[in-house]
Amino acid sequence: MELVQFGCEDWLNVWEKSATIDIAQSTIDSLSLEEVLAFEEDNGEAFMSQMMKEKFSYGWIEGSPAFKSEVAKLYKRVPEDNILSTNGATGANFLTILGLIGQGDHVIAQYPSYQQLYDWPKTLGAQVDYWHIKEENNWLPQIEELRRLVKSNTKLICLNNAAQPTGAIMSPKFLSEVVEIARSVDAYILCDEVYLPLDEETPYSPIADLYEKGISTNSISKTYSVPGIRVGWVATQDRDLCNEFRKIRDYTLICTGVFDDAVAALVLKHKDKVLERARKIVKGNLSILKEWVENEPLVSMVYPNAVSVSFVKFEELDPTKTEDFAIQLLREKGVLIIPGNRFDLSGYARIGYCTDETTLRQGLKLLSEFLREYQV
Ligand SMILES: Cc1ncc(COP(=O)(O)O)c(C=O)c1O
Repeated sequence: MELVQFGCEDWLNVWEKSATIDIAQSTIDSLSLEEVLAFEEDNGEAFMSQMMKEKFSYGWIEGSPAFKSEVAKLYKRVPEDNILSTNGATGANFLTILGLIGQGDHVIAQYPSYQQLYDWPKTLGAQVDYWHIKEENNWLPQIEELRRLVKSNTKLICLNNAAQPTGAIMSPKFLSEVVEIARSVDAYILCDEVYLPLDEETPYSPIADLYEKGISTNSISKTYSVPGIRVGWVATQDRDLCNEFRKIRDYTLICTGVFDDAVAALVLKHKDKVLERARKIVKGNLSILKEWVENEPLVSMVYPNAVSVSFVKFEELDPTKTEDFAIQLLREKGVLIIPGNRFDLSGYARIGYCTDETTLRQGLKLLSEFLREYQV
């Protein structure tokens, strides 16, 4: 089995702990347990007292009823029973692809996006065709290309909506066209939906609501600000597929753990407050980011659609030096970004702008300085 290195995760593994100013992360400023508990009327006293007594058995294997019922509220057409908890969205994508894909299967994947969505099927022996995103199309893929790529034996189409590293969004109307193409060859659609557009005017729909063979994967890591609780899920209308996933879970996961499940359920119970906070951060920080881009002639950007990741273009940097630039930026200024070559797009970088305001402002200022100082 041949597995290539996961570009952006490997970059973070190696470099993130040496950063003093981290503007690389995709989570919306992570919450502490204290902050999560403060969403409760009693400041989480009852929750914590229950947790102190709770036996750390395996707990609920597929996710507790409280967790499943909160997740089910995020969908119109997915019954509670068709929701399975996983180890983050990474676990949900892993499970879905493992459950569906084998040697020789044909897969189409939005590219570049989250590397797991194309390199994991390849590792399992699939023939993977890329459905390209392009900057000139606001980082969206084109339906015509999908029509050319699809084959009678296409088994799975992998999407990331909203997308990283660009923050682009496929509208429900666009997705309906993708669904029609998938339906014409009876293909499944997996959509990694960890990034929710936080602008309430942006039309958005999970794939599991749009398509009977759609699988939505998600977690509390990004939009919900709690990546340290390793809980995600798969959601699908397809009962048989869900049962297949159940079988695999017994071999790969069993459960997500008593404490993690309980905190995940609590975060989702208070999703209105969590999202209100997230909207405020995205809105405020996006205006700081835009102001920086507008006043910085050495960069340009197709702005993210109220999504917590953004992808900046370095106008005068030699694209072959993207990674070296990012390493030197970290060494000289302590600022962490993710160089675009880690997403197969040299000459760009991912900026995770939903950190605290001071860090963002300082990081952008130092990035501007270093764009002028960097010498090959
Ligand atoms: C598109 C996408 N999916 C999944 C993940 C990982 O999510 P989780 O922490 O829930 O495993 C990331 C993290 O960067 C991501 O960008």
